[in-house]
Amino acid sequence: MKLLYPLFKKIAFSFDPEVIHEYSIRVLSDYPLLSELFDQKVSVSENDKYKVSLNGPSWSFPVGLAAGLDKNALALDFFSRLYFGAIEVGTVTPKPQDGNPKPRLFRYPETESLRNKMGFNNGGAEKVLSHLLSSTKNNKVLGVNLGKNKITPIDKAWEDYNILYRNFSKISDYLVINVSSPNTPGLRGLQESDALEEILSSLGQIRSEDPCPLYLKISPDIDKTHASAIINLAKKYSLTGIIATNTTIMKEKGEGGISGKLCLEKSRNVRKWILDEARECPDLDVIGVGGISSFKDLWDFWLAGGKAVQIYTAFIYQGPNILNQIKDGIDDVLTSNGIKSVNELLENLEKVKNPFKK
Ligand SMILES: Cc1cc2nc3c(=O)[nH]c(=O)nc-3n(C[C@H](O)[C@H](O)[C@H](O)COP(=O)(O)O)c2cc1C
Repeated sequence: MKLLYPLFKKIAFSFDPEVIHEYSIRVLSDYPLLSELFDQKVSVSENDKYKVSLNGPSWSFPVGLAAGLDKNALALDFFSRLYFGAIEVGTVTPKPQDGNPKPRLFRYPETESLRNKMGFNNGGAEKVLSHLLSSTKNNKVLGVNLGKNKITPIDKAWEDYNILYRNFSKISDYLVINVSSPNTPGLRGLQESDALEEILSSLGQIRSEDPCPLYLKISPDIDKTHASAIINLAKKYSLTGIIATNTTIMKEKGEGGISGKLCLEKSRNVRKWILDEARECPDLDVIGVGGISSFKDLWDFWLAGGKAVQIYTAFIYQGPNILNQIKDGIDDVLTSNGIKSVNELLENLEKVKNPFKK
């Protein structure tokens, strides 16, 4: 059903972006079997073919759904029926909050990008937890992305992350500390070493009693020195990995964060710094996100030393077809090199012919 999404998009893009987004999530929540229209079932014999082994839980496919698309975990049953290897819900905050005034989501179709200034609109921990408890994740990896409430003072942010960790550690395969959204005043300041250290050290005791893989999601608007300070803290506090990156600020476009192709370059630079630094600590995963929109982008990330990526904006522009295209790209490389699985491919990448080099 390759034409289904382009057709849906034609209609959907004539509506306000947030209105159609909310509506679509509701429909997908009520009819998760709509996934059948996209032909994304992996046969049992291919169960391990696309698997990527990570320091955190292994993903059954190297592409996951990025945070923010299903903030309240309403359509987990739908998304987990697609090829996605992991689904990250949230950002969830302890208390419900409305987010910033509307309109707050804008499309840039000519560059397949978006700008959002949502501000962590979500139903709050209790509601998201209840949705998760009544959802199925079809054996996929479930991540929950955690953020502070807007009204929580910055110096008390660690309390919000502690509350959220306790709420979601049992039900999640991994958790994410989000200190990189540009849409909550002061939040990105929490990426500075002292503030970040306060959060990570406050979580230390809880993590030892109640371990759950823990990632940190960072912004693409940091420099190399800052990236290296973050890696040092990640090592010091034994984080499972870094998710790089969130949206980027482009003042000329207006308030909020830019995602999609317009954020690829900045995001890719930060990913490269992080991957270079992380090479010496194989215990640290680097999940790539930001402007990834094709098998070529995944391939570039693999060449840079990464394994698994997430997408958001490319899913809005291409729909589930992007996953079929990435799977086809993987299949071609595996077949032409006589390799059986993605894990084996990643172990032998330097010997494999680059499909993008003519
Ligand atoms: C409308 C919108 C809402 C988002 N909300 C969140 C969020 O709540 N938490 C978060 O960590 N990232 C959020 N993101 C960022 C994405 O997870 C991702 O990091 C970013 O969009 C870059 O990836 P992309 O280019 O594939 O979209 C949001 C992105 C968009 C476009």
